Amino acid sequence: MEVLIRDTPAAVAECAADQVVSALAAVTGRSPTLGLATGSSPLGLYAALGRRVAAGQLDIRAVHGVALDEYVGLPPDHPQGYGVVLERTVCDVVGLPRPHLHVPDGTAAGLAALTERAAAYERTILALGGVDVQILGIGTNGHVGFNEPGSALTSRTRVKRLSDRTRRDNARFFTSLDDVPTHCVTQGLGTITSARRLVLVATGDAKARAVADALEGPLTASCPASVLQWHPDTVVVLDEQAAGCLKNRSYYDAAAQGLAAASGEQA
Ligand code: F6R
Repeated sequence: MEVLIRDTPAAVAECAADQVVSALAAVTGRSPTLGLATGSSPLGLYAALGRRVAAGQLDIRAVHGVALDEYVGLPPDHPQGYGVVLERTVCDVVGLPRPHLHVPDGTAAGLAALTERAAAYERTILALGGVDVQILGIGTNGHVGFNEPGSALTSRTRVKRLSDRTRRDNARFFTSLDDVPTHCVTQGLGTITSARRLVLVATGDAKARAVADALEGPLTASCPASVLQWHPDTVVVLDEQAAGCLKNRSYYDAAAQGLAAASGEQA
């Protein structure tokens, strides 16, 4: 796992954009697949990717976007539905073609129909060749996607109950807490860790505890983001505030200097 710490959220966004662009550029012989998170954390990254596209450094036209999650029970045109949010924050900002945006279906009536469509979503990801690089945020309770504490580490896309904490955290996007859906369809932790590269971005004090638990605590379903420790190509990009509870900070900074810098020191 690589942990890259930057001074500001703007620098976090640029650094994460470098990681995403290099992962997409490495794909040959098929359309690249980009895993998309919603929420506040990746907005700066999406803006940075939009600038790369405008500068001709990223060709987004063939890329497919695969959402992590969707609320259950919102009408398809609800402004806080994740399909609509990603149209606004990724298609409109980065230029991802709308027909290339794939989002779990939270509109089906009843658990059986939702479960069947969740399985179809897994097949869609497979048909696209899997996710080349998955963008992630982290919840204050350590969730990734909407895999709340207690989620199976090998889980696949399915219906989940949202925790009270997540509903309170996300109430800022709705008129009131009562309007926040109680359930979602989310990629599982097994789905997320099947992506070839994971890029998690976190900024601000509110994420510091969850980030430290995920990176330096035990691998446990009690902190779903700790599953990142299991993945061979994870990059975590943090600002100073989100890095505030890390114990191994000096190691991460030294490692980020790279081999060339270390050789220079020894010379
Ligand atoms: C949303 C998602 C969630 C968010 C997390 C952080 O698709 O996957 O895991 O990344 O809740 O949300 P923000 O970034 O709004 O703090």
